[in-house]
Amino acid sequence: MRMISPIIFTVSLLLSSSCHAAVQDFCVADFTAPESPTGHACKKPETVTVNDFVYSGLGVAGNTSNLLKAAVTPAFVTEFPALNGLGISLARLDMAPGGVAPVHTHPGATEVVHVVSGKITAGFISGANKVYYKTLNKGDLIIFPQGLLHFLENAETTPAEAYFSFNSVSPGSQLVDFALFGNDFPTELVAATTFLDTAQIKKLKGALGGSG
Ligand SMILES: *[C@@H]1O[C@H](CO)[C@@H](O)[C@H](O)[C@H]1NC(C)=O
Repeated sequence: MRMISPIIFTVSLLLSSSCHAAVQDFCVADFTAPESPTGHACKKPETVTVNDFVYSGLGVAGNTSNLLKAAVTPAFVTEFPALNGLGISLARLDMAPGGVAPVHTHPGATEVVHVVSGKITAGFISGANKVYYKTLNKGDLIIFPQGLLHFLENAETTPAEAYFSFNSVSPGSQLVDFALFGNDFPTELVAATTFLDTAQIKKLKGALGGSG
């Protein structure tokens, strides 16, 4: 009996985990139900079709006529509900010449960038404040480890296109410039806590929609 019990335990564990996996193959988000702290409720499996697993929203370039000369088109759980619970998502990046993704972080997600046309200079800053950056060519990948500040720039005279993949269905972003200058963070407090001069802070607040 002493030898058998662990075997029975292991077998029943395997059975129960495989049954569990079969039930939980997917959980297409049902946005009509309330969201819980663990994520979205699942659409009834009998109403799920192949079209829930296909998303066609990244086939069109984003509009880069903006301050950043860049556009991110997301395929996060909001746009692509089949991602719910699977911990993965994608986005498309279009950059006009001179386009930038200003220094920012996704606090909870690691990101892989895949350049599919043009050239993009991309990098990140480690916790030890070492800067790792390189100009990527078509086909190149770069990874931005979770939570670290990173940036991208198209320094070329031709447009660039890339795809981001995240290990999160909804990677939040925090842009340093907008966190400092795009809100009502008082100018004097920004100056005191960043060592920037107030004229520069006011100029950036003007450009990024901040006040105070
Ligand atoms: C792109 O955005 C600009 C600025 O908002 C707008 O004027 C223009 O019509 C947009 N272009 C397209 C093709 O949507």
